[in-house]
Amino acid sequence: MSKPPVGIANGLTNYGDRDFSLYLRRSFAKSMGYSNAMLEKPVVGIAYTPSGFNNCHRHFPELLEAVKRGVLAAGALPLEFPTISLGEVFLNPTSLKFRNLMAMDTEEMVRAQPIDSVVLMGGCDKTVPAQLMGAVSANRPAVMLIGGPMMTGRHQGERLGACTDCRRFWAKYRAGAIDEQEINEIEGKLATTAGSCAVMGTASTMACLTEALGMCLPGTAAIPAVHADRLRAAEATGALAVQLIGSTLTPDKIVTQKSMENALRALLAIGGSTNAIIHLTAIAGRAGIPVSLQRLNELSDTTPVLVNLKPVGNGYMEDFFAAGGMGALLRELKDLLHLDAMTITGETLGERLGFDSADWVDRTIIAERNKPLEPLGGLVALFGNLAPRGAILKRSAADSNLFELEGRAVVFTSLADLAARIDDPNLDVEANDFLVLQNAGPHSESAMPEAGYLPIPKKLATKGVKDMVRISDARMSGTAFGTIVLHVTPDSASGGLLGLVRNGDRIKLSVKDRSINLLIDDVELKRRAAVTKPAVEVPSRGYARLYQQEVLGADEGCDFAFLKPR
Ligand code: FES
Repeated sequence: MSKPPVGIANGLTNYGDRDFSLYLRRSFAKSMGYSNAMLEKPVVGIAYTPSGFNNCHRHFPELLEAVKRGVLAAGALPLEFPTISLGEVFLNPTSLKFRNLMAMDTEEMVRAQPIDSVVLMGGCDKTVPAQLMGAVSANRPAVMLIGGPMMTGRHQGERLGACTDCRRFWAKYRAGAIDEQEINEIEGKLATTAGSCAVMGTASTMACLTEALGMCLPGTAAIPAVHADRLRAAEATGALAVQLIGSTLTPDKIVTQKSMENALRALLAIGGSTNAIIHLTAIAGRAGIPVSLQRLNELSDTTPVLVNLKPVGNGYMEDFFAAGGMGALLRELKDLLHLDAMTITGETLGERLGFDSADWVDRTIIAERNKPLEPLGGLVALFGNLAPRGAILKRSAADSNLFELEGRAVVFTSLADLAARIDDPNLDVEANDFLVLQNAGPHSESAMPEAGYLPIPKKLATKGVKDMVRISDARMSGTAFGTIVLHVTPDSASGGLLGLVRNGDRIKLSVKDRSINLLIDDVELKRRAAVTKPAVEVPSRGYARLYQQEVLGADEGCDFAFLKPR
């Protein structure tokens, strides 16, 4: 039996004559200067995502050279191809809306082009989950290369890193603690190098979880973007992609129920981003694996927070790297993990952790299991009539004094309403009220932006109020902090109860009971439901229409219904 074709002889363009198709392809490939010898080799595709609108990926040209070096030295032909790149702060209304578009782009290009294995180069917030979703659906041999985090900057002797410090200084500015000149000066010091945000925000969280899942080389998640080790990791990733050619180690062997639980454990132990729940759910969903928020709570009750990075602690990703990185953390969690989960190197997680030398670990950044930063995991899911399909609270970044509380709702019906009234001196609001934001979920026009970190009303901020209970169907940046209930599902725009909350209603939050309830009777609720119509218009055309028609709730990872496996 003849061997299946490899390299550019794979997946021919259909002209009705296979030999002609190959002849034409080789001819056109030669126009790029490739020799016959090169065109006989297997091909490693490189999903390449630099963009003038993505500051986090500005070092990708240099990383690409290192990946190619690794591929060539290992005997294959590296061919990069562009996909959509999502620069977190350059997208309107929010990058999450386009994550599924990037996932589709990645999946289809991996499948349609003559690729024997693929290196996925991502870093900024939504890029890594999008590439993993695409890779799982395409199910060709694939390995992630993380772009790496930024280094910190300095302001008046203090270390600064995007973007927990962006929010901290902005809050100080709003409260009148620093002036316009200083906030403008700080603007140029928050993000000073290539790489993704410097704290344990969404990008860093997803990088760490990629390593916990086993989809990138061990030890590579936390290497700073500008560190020489990052280039060596790129070279090694290229070489590994060549090893993956022809192997059966496809993403479905790595992204499994067990590796997902390992990733959830890691998420809880790093005090990671709430966004990661949505992304993990979406990635797992592509493999047909459900992620249950009840299970998250079980894991949360038995997983301590061990990593001391902002926004829940003090350090930055460069400290995590120097402290021992994910290897050191996973070794601390070893008895809680599924050690038989397979990783991209062909080793199980247990083999990998066993082979890692137990080097020096900076215990100010990665705590020992018996001396955790927090005894319980960083995230907790809440349920109740307000969130029958769940809501998320990052308890490690919240004020525990606000955990068992009943409060009066101060309602904002949309982002525009919030912007218009939050700083109104006449706003009827007290420090122990609950701020409620409606119509900011996945089905809303704003497509679930990171708006759940509602600002403290100026009249309270200037009196020194730093935290309040805030409830919404929005997300929150992984770099943010506060007593913030997010991802309320179903969301207001799809008819959830959150849309029926009115000013003055009483809401009860109990983190102990994992509950969030609106304290009004069913008769009144029914009356409100009868007169409240979720105001979502389906756009007439284009991606916006596809998004509106297909997007699922946060409990299904905000994926598109038609992209889930049948
Ligand atoms: Fe890219 Fe924060 S802006 S990770």
